[in-house]
Amino acid sequence: MLNWEDPIKQFKSPAAGQRATAMLASEALAAVERIETKQKAAAEPVIHDAAPAEAIGVTGLEQVEFGAQRLAVDDKQMINCRADVNQLVPFKYKWAWQKYLDGCANHWMPQEINMTADIQLWKSKDGLTEDERTVIKRNLGFFSTADSLVANNLVLAVYRHITNPECRQYLLRQAFEEALHTHAYQYCVESLGLDEAEIFNMYRELPVIHKKAQWAMRFTDSLGDANFHTGTVAANQRLLRDLIAFYVVFEGIFFYVGFVQILSMGRRNKMSGVAEQFQYILRDESMHMNFGIDVINQIKVENPEIWTEEFQVEMAQLIREAVDLEIEYAQDSMPRGVLGLNAAMFEEYLHFIANRRCSQIGLPEQVPGATNPFPWMSEVMDLKKEKNFFETRVTEYQTGGALSWD
Ligand SMILES: [Fe+2]
Ligand SMILES: [Fe+2]
Repeated sequence: MLNWEDPIKQFKSPAAGQRATAMLASEALAAVERIETKQKAAAEPVIHDAAPAEAIGVTGLEQVEFGAQRLAVDDKQMINCRADVNQLVPFKYKWAWQKYLDGCANHWMPQEINMTADIQLWKSKDGLTEDERTVIKRNLGFFSTADSLVANNLVLAVYRHITNPECRQYLLRQAFEEALHTHAYQYCVESLGLDEAEIFNMYRELPVIHKKAQWAMRFTDSLGDANFHTGTVAANQRLLRDLIAFYVVFEGIFFYVGFVQILSMGRRNKMSGVAEQFQYILRDESMHMNFGIDVINQIKVENPEIWTEEFQVEMAQLIREAVDLEIEYAQDSMPRGVLGLNAAMFEEYLHFIANRRCSQIGLPEQVPGATNPFPWMSEVMDLKKEKNFFETRVTEYQTGGALSWD
């Protein structure tokens, strides 16, 4: 192992050595310049407004300014904030902190759910029809990669642009929940002994699932670019567009055919373990979506110039496109009626929920008058863990009191 005193000996030819030495010298110079720039910036007073667009916003990894003015609640902003993001309090967005607490109170783990009856039913020859098996496999196929896409968007694209610590606290909780969801799908696949390559490759191999994933990718890839910064109208709109695509469409529309299908199965006492996994996931997802809608609306309040007529028309168009893709997914996953459901019911349901999503972010309803053919879905979402969850759980968490220091 090298230490600081060791000479650098790894160069085999003088020419290579010269090139490498020249490179190291220029890197060293660049590093000194970076340090000097940082020191100069640290010596200057913090400017709270009129920052250049390319430098706006903080990551939380900047130099800690010693003796800086204390943080005031009014310094906080959802995006493009230059105040310290490492200080959770004082809270500005109390709803975000409350959602973090609610998320923690709803904590669950996939392996707490008993899968025995599902395994027996799946292995029995005549327990399920082929159409019912298709519904299970399609949804495990879609969701098993979809939740990873959501997590990657959250952590690698969205997180650094949300410059508020209480919202970041919720985003960290949400990121963990997305990991739990991917874990839950993997756990179902493993329990049922499904072909994991078939399930996890569906978003590459099955057109209806590929289209949904691909639809979302165009919103996240540019945002994850290290050179992308918010601070201009166009860049702030790009972030808002991603938030609408992921929170309102992906988690708020693209998940719902699958949720209805799997939960319908559970209501008929079929695959009740898989259905219970989906029930807890649905509860988490409805909170993710509501958090996202609150963030979107707060960004609109703080940056009214980005919510233009043109942008609203574009967002309504995105939602209509997404509904069409999800109708296609419903048709493909249940070409015939199954479990008392059919594709026409899903078309009505998707129009109904898209209307709700539109109103929640201040857009006009796209299909006024659509009704809800599945009113029982709202009861499922209101699931209280004390009513059900702790009666069925099969393992206990290891708590602080049970840990051993040996
Ligand atoms: Fe999820
Ligand atoms: Fe989610």
